Amino acid sequence: MSATLIDGKAISQQLLADVAAKVSQRSSEGKRAPCLAVVLIGSDAASAVYVNNKKKACEKVGIKSLSYEYGSDFTQEQLLALVDELNANDEVDGILVQLPLPAHLDVQQIIERIRPDKDVDGFHPYNVGRLAVKMPLMRPCTPRGVMIMLEQSGVDVMGKDVVIVGASNIVGRPQALEMLLARATVTVCHSKTKDLAAEVGRADIVVAGVGIPNFIKGEWVKPGAVVIDVGINRLDTGKLCGDVEFEIAKERASMITPVPGGVGPMTIATLMQNTLDACELHD
Ligand code: GUN
Repeated sequence: MSATLIDGKAISQQLLADVAAKVSQRSSEGKRAPCLAVVLIGSDAASAVYVNNKKKACEKVGIKSLSYEYGSDFTQEQLLALVDELNANDEVDGILVQLPLPAHLDVQQIIERIRPDKDVDGFHPYNVGRLAVKMPLMRPCTPRGVMIMLEQSGVDVMGKDVVIVGASNIVGRPQALEMLLARATVTVCHSKTKDLAAEVGRADIVVAGVGIPNFIKGEWVKPGAVVIDVGINRLDTGKLCGDVEFEIAKERASMITPVPGGVGPMTIATLMQNTLDACELHD
């Protein structure tokens, strides 16, 4: 058996089209376009690519984007002042500070300075807490994108055994909260997990977000399981690959996301949805 591929590109394009239609509807009602402020500090090459893609997506759906790019000598005080300015600007609906930040900056202090109703990344502890108590406001983009992807693929999460590999603030932890909200039975695995192969082997749905190429062995996957690979890793050959051994896993899974073309495009489309949601909060 070979798994059905979950086409993240197609699903994300549908989501972008839905957002574009709603933005256009706002305009016809005389309402302003949503506005996203994108902040990039330093010279991380991958971050520059991601930020560019975010700005391009804004353009595509009719969301206004404001760009703030500074060198790695930008100080904590300057960045806090910029966030304060964007918080106070009524034209700005969403503030996205691209991570990772240069090492001298205190990421958590910056995240906590962003107004929760403009925190389109959903990283502020207020938003994490809202998700934890089943009252989500702004939801982290990648985990929300995964839930949309599963729904659009006809995968019912309720009551399923979901195993998440990776406990990061950006993927694993909020993914666990999203899955709980959708009433799955959730296990979160990390570097101290005793028997990862056994945990993965009993999952109906596996979500991999560790950032290590081919870390999840294809033979661990339970026959018929759904595999969601959040990893985007660049090999020495220049080729992109996920966290899961794709070729072997796809012969066991019922559905699987490819890398590239799986979760990646969903993250940006979900960011557009979050920016629209934030704008509607500010109406
Ligand atoms: N760096 C990698 N992923 C993300 C993300 O989702 N948001 C931000 N702000 N930075 C990131």
